[in-house]
Amino acid sequence: MKEVDIKKLLDWYQKNKRDLPWRKTSDPYKIWISEVMLQQTRVETVVDYYTRFLKFLPTIHDLAHVKEDQLLKLWEGLGYYSRARNLKKCAQKVMDLGLSSLPSDESLLKTLPGIGPYTAGAILSISYQKCFPAIDGNVLRVLSRVYEDDRDLLKKSVRESYENLLKKFMTKENARSFTEGFIELGALVCIPNGVPLCENCPLRSCCKSKKHDTMLEYPKKKKKKSRKIVSKTVYILKYQDTYAIRKRKEGVLVGMYELPNVDETFTKEQLGQFLTQKNDSYSSIRFIGNFKHIFSHLEWHMKAYLVNLNEKPKNYKFYSKETIAQKYSLPTAFSQIFQKIP
Ligand code: ADE
Repeated sequence: MKEVDIKKLLDWYQKNKRDLPWRKTSDPYKIWISEVMLQQTRVETVVDYYTRFLKFLPTIHDLAHVKEDQLLKLWEGLGYYSRARNLKKCAQKVMDLGLSSLPSDESLLKTLPGIGPYTAGAILSISYQKCFPAIDGNVLRVLSRVYEDDRDLLKKSVRESYENLLKKFMTKENARSFTEGFIELGALVCIPNGVPLCENCPLRSCCKSKKHDTMLEYPKKKKKKSRKIVSKTVYILKYQDTYAIRKRKEGVLVGMYELPNVDETFTKEQLGQFLTQKNDSYSSIRFIGNFKHIFSHLEWHMKAYLVNLNEKPKNYKFYSKETIAQKYSLPTAFSQIFQKIP
């Protein structure tokens, strides 16, 4: 890659960039929120979350003072809830340091909770026009193809070698478009699934993979670790048009609300026996369906039932469907079942 290739990339970006809400601002707080959300899910999904989040929490000061339940509600459906909690921790730390906004100093920025090299690079280059690259999976895919790089891209040393390389091409004038341009190229042209659109690529003349027609061999795939499978029964407890929820005390999704569930697979009869043992008096049990939820390191395979109760057990709170939707953060693993209640 030479300077002339970077110039082509920047020209391409100006002509082809998507109109996205976080591209209309340099506010470091807004850029930060967009980047953390974009690490979790697709651009199309982020647009609505981003807009709603900033409407509710327009400044870093608002984020530092938000109630955890409200924060998790804004994050509901995005997953990786520890990231949302880290956002608040980070905002609090910025306030504690007596700053009015995220710092533009690289070392200080990287000491803040949840801010790793990618997020720091994105904030520094996009908001502050500083020469720090932001290298995520998309950018690594582009680079691994350009250089036919067989190395393990997850290694810190590999990322750092690319940071050093990219820094050489960055200037105060191009820093923002440089970061956004590489990301956009990875999203629109040098795509992850399927054949990349090399004919449209501004880097095609310097790309080794294009030259040798090896694009689909890069990035080198590592064997994926298999996920642990947990079989569960989720039993929705209904009492007079209200439904039982409670806060999770431990494990994955800790602090989020959950529907009653156990780590065992019950038939309808077994669930009936289980409830009777717990002294729950019910009038009917209905099978709703089988559901699956995939986390990064485990999968929940769930059998779901709807139980009509004759009285309320003590260890749950009961709310209407509307109240749960408006006030409580029920993660997708459970809300997908809740939505199917007949
Ligand atoms: N993915 C990660 N960062 C992004 C950004 N700023 N714009 C679009 N997609 C992204």
